[in-house]
Amino acid sequence: MCGIVAYIGNKQAYPIVIKGLKRLEYRGYDSAGVAILNGKLQIYKQKGKVSDLEGYIEKKLNGRLVHGTIGMGHTRWATHGEPNDINAHPHTSQRKDFAIIHNGIIENYDTLKQQLIKLGHHFESDTDTEVLAHLIEEYMQQNSLSLDEAVRMALNNVVGAYGIVVMSEDYPDMLIGARKGSPLVLGIGDKEYMLASDATPIVEITRRVVYLNDGEMVIARRDGFTLKTIDNVVKTPFVQYLELELEELEKGGYEHFMLKEIFEQPTSISNCIRGRVNHNSDYIHLGGIAQYIDQIAQAQRIIIVGCGTSWHAGLVGEYIIEELTRIPVEVEYASEFRYRNPIINPNDVVIAISQSGETADTLAAIQLAKSKGALILGICNVVGSSIPRITDAGIYTHAGPEIGVASTKAFTAQVTALIQLALKIAQKRGINREKVLTLLKELMQIPQHIQAILKQNDKIKEIASIFKDASNFLYLGRGYNFPVALEGALKLKEISYIHAEGYPAAEMKHGPIALIDENMPVVFIATKDSSYEKVVNNIMEVKARKGRVIAIVTENDSQASKLAEFTIQIPEVDELLTPILSVIPLQLLSYHIAVMRGCNVDQPRNLAKSVTVE
Ligand code: G6P
Repeated sequence: MCGIVAYIGNKQAYPIVIKGLKRLEYRGYDSAGVAILNGKLQIYKQKGKVSDLEGYIEKKLNGRLVHGTIGMGHTRWATHGEPNDINAHPHTSQRKDFAIIHNGIIENYDTLKQQLIKLGHHFESDTDTEVLAHLIEEYMQQNSLSLDEAVRMALNNVVGAYGIVVMSEDYPDMLIGARKGSPLVLGIGDKEYMLASDATPIVEITRRVVYLNDGEMVIARRDGFTLKTIDNVVKTPFVQYLELELEELEKGGYEHFMLKEIFEQPTSISNCIRGRVNHNSDYIHLGGIAQYIDQIAQAQRIIIVGCGTSWHAGLVGEYIIEELTRIPVEVEYASEFRYRNPIINPNDVVIAISQSGETADTLAAIQLAKSKGALILGICNVVGSSIPRITDAGIYTHAGPEIGVASTKAFTAQVTALIQLALKIAQKRGINREKVLTLLKELMQIPQHIQAILKQNDKIKEIASIFKDASNFLYLGRGYNFPVALEGALKLKEISYIHAEGYPAAEMKHGPIALIDENMPVVFIATKDSSYEKVVNNIMEVKARKGRVIAIVTENDSQASKLAEFTIQIPEVDELLTPILSVIPLQLLSYHIAVMRGCNVDQPRNLAKSVTVE
């Protein structure tokens, strides 16, 4: 995790770096720091958020500006060493004449540290990053290497993951960036350059970017840049144009990014289907996988990997793909899959789902599946991120930037992408054309159905106010809505810190029922589908034990609504599509509970949006 950003050019670097850090804060926010070069390195670091750092600098400098046209900053999610001022980045060399910011983990840092201590180095922090700074210095001193050569040599001797930027008092016209395992993007402006963990800070100065590949480094000077590998092979940069709009990165009048993103779902779903399906025909065009569709349709098995919310989308995908295509599907946590020597055959298709496209465990799972010869597809949101670049083919969800740490619109877009993929595969395998047509028609109506659900926001807020002080919550659903129960519980845990569990409704009898009493809110997803009657029975079982039931029901529902203390209605759709709708009240419920409890919903404690460490 961690976010890094750097600027070199003719403008004042400090405001650009601070603004960039705020954009990247979703990647970690336990401490932050900047280094600005103006003859000497000026380094400021502070535990807490970027705004704390800003306040600290303002106080320290009595409101004066930090001057310098080259600078960099870091927002941290601690791995090595507790979050405090000393462990915050940037870190410096022994002579303190150059500084480094780092996102990732140097796995052999302890061995290197011991070697460097023997050579007389003293360390101030507990971080792996400081070791890298000293290692670079050692190469410069012992072998009289230039800064870029020393960085290159040092990187050849570290094991682990890094996205780094280095700058030095002796090289006031140079920023060096490199990546392996952690993302790094170069922005190319007019005699100015930026390096950042993602493109969001870069749009402020330019839309021309180069996404660095693993093992590549860039040396940027005000009048140009060089791209090469850490093996010293010069590369021709592949310059891409960013489609990102600045408004997409702002709150747009909403109190929080999470609320904005929940309310954006009619648009994000429309964007995910636009140009891909047509309501008058059974046309489905998924350009990113078109070349491989025959091979996908002949898969012996589909394995879906992902983490967190993306894994939940994968579970929904399993139900949908198996139902429509009859291809067996397995869904795995990427973190488990990568370490358990899984059986993967060349006829298997692996689908990696990830909002960020940078999750370390998902990337590692892809590498493993690739080595066994499977075809790898990605379902990702962030264009140009690592997963789309290492997969054979894929589908972008086009949900737009998701900044709130708790995933909302990415989930519904992932499920939408999976439905389209399942329909496309099913079509190839000769599914009943009428079924495809019906589902496509219903899919096109999903955005307006979501609008109808969002209109119940006030009612959901009311329900939230009644349950905001609960210590536990249970979420129950069956079939397509079992993963939604998991997702609802995850949302609540993530942002309100209330303990919540999601369970298949029928499994309640095998354990969770013991927890039910008059203090336990139980959220049922009881929509009209093939398991409706069974879920109604489960509601009765909870009621009999005095549990307080909140039910997500279909419009015109009677049975479940009579039993539940509170109901939230969603429009009736084919059961296969219900997860996209039923999850929305749960997102809103968690949001309002978290706000009422005074939690920071966009930046919940201990979490980060992009988990680039395993
Ligand atoms: C983190 C985020 C979650 C996300 C998960 C997977 O835990 O906080 O919201 O679902 O990572 O991230 P990905 O970017 O791969 O979907």
